[in-house]
Amino acid sequence: MYEVKFKGSLKGTLRVPSDKSISHRSIMLGSINDGEVVVKNFLRSEDCLNTLKAFKALGVNIEDNETLIKIHGKGKFLKEPFDVLDVGNSGTSIRLISGILAGQPFYSVLTGDRYLRKRPMDRIAIPLRMMGATILGRENGKYPPLTIIGKNPLNGIDYKSPKASAQVKSCILLAGLFTDEEVKVTEPARSRDHTERMLKAFGVDVEVDGLTVSLGKNRVLKADMEIDVPADISSAAFFMVAAAIVPGSEIILEDVILNPTRTGILDVMEKMGVNFEIINKRVVSGEEVGNIKVSYSSELKAISISGDIIPRLIDEIPIISILATQAEGKTVIRNAAELRVKESDRIKSIVSNLKNLGINVEEFEDGFMIQGKSKIAGGEVSGFGDHRIAMSFLIASLISEDTIYIDDIDCIATSYPNFLSDLKFLLK
Ligand code: S3P
Repeated sequence: MYEVKFKGSLKGTLRVPSDKSISHRSIMLGSINDGEVVVKNFLRSEDCLNTLKAFKALGVNIEDNETLIKIHGKGKFLKEPFDVLDVGNSGTSIRLISGILAGQPFYSVLTGDRYLRKRPMDRIAIPLRMMGATILGRENGKYPPLTIIGKNPLNGIDYKSPKASAQVKSCILLAGLFTDEEVKVTEPARSRDHTERMLKAFGVDVEVDGLTVSLGKNRVLKADMEIDVPADISSAAFFMVAAAIVPGSEIILEDVILNPTRTGILDVMEKMGVNFEIINKRVVSGEEVGNIKVSYSSELKAISISGDIIPRLIDEIPIISILATQAEGKTVIRNAAELRVKESDRIKSIVSNLKNLGINVEEFEDGFMIQGKSKIAGGEVSGFGDHRIAMSFLIASLISEDTIYIDDIDCIATSYPNFLSDLKFLLK
């Protein structure tokens, strides 16, 4: 058990690590591009480094001097890997890379850690099979390890996705590069659109019409470019909430991505009465970016969060639950059943940890209710092997009455290896 000992208010200016979604995509799209890509501010976390390692194993020449990454794109067709591709904890890696492997006329196997091997892959296997690839996995093709026997060309697809999932949408769009037939994905609500934006930047014809994304005639990636990855709003969220709940805090988080498919957390902060402002909004590498100033907010109000906003803040729900403990009233989150199949069952993880800390919380199949204005007692919590759960409860410890003990913080390295030192830096 790790004894969490942090106290104090948060002050100062920090650039949190770069965006995980964009870092993954810069390696994936840079690898199947016919040209050279330099990636600045790549997120050097376990998940993204696993994507980088996978593309090296697929024959792509990637230079990494730990400051810059230079990808000598191989074009769409890669090399059959000599071994199983192990992407660790990363759901984005396994699901997006599967789309690219589905169009390769060779055999490959993707696996991950014990958490990833329990996450559902039928959501991508079903459409990829419709496109003509052979996808095998444990329990009738549902769970990793996944075996992929690709095909070229693949069939087209007009897919009505049952979920608002950027991983599903991106997987299909990437597989769609390996056919000339119609490729269309319609989602029930808009999920993050980094794949669409980046494919366009590489010269691919992508059309967006409401909730439908389709590929046009040109499906070849051909560009020399530099991608400057902005700071991740999902990582910034931990300190935004920390500053809002710890008296005396005032911080500025720099270069944070403000893509509208990612800013649900800001809408929630506004409605709950968090004091914040956005400074110096600008566009970097095709994505909106800005600095966010947040200060202690003594009059937080509970709200209900459900419907189309859920995919816009799906990764921030663990830390929103900590914010909710300090708001006046009951915060209710619904339509978030997807949380059950994230890095952990996040509904269960949040509810059981909050209960252990003395918070009144009620679990629903698709969310939970948190009674606000609650004192966080001390106690034992678990990270459940899930980076965002561990970081959320480290932040909770800043306002806990007694010591919090947590079993696992190593998992934080999947997205934010320097989280503890950044937290220490801000604590004054
Ligand atoms: C991601 C999409 C989301 C998100 C994940 C990253 C991506 O997952 O939760 O952390 O980079 O495409 P889903 O597509 O499963 O919602």
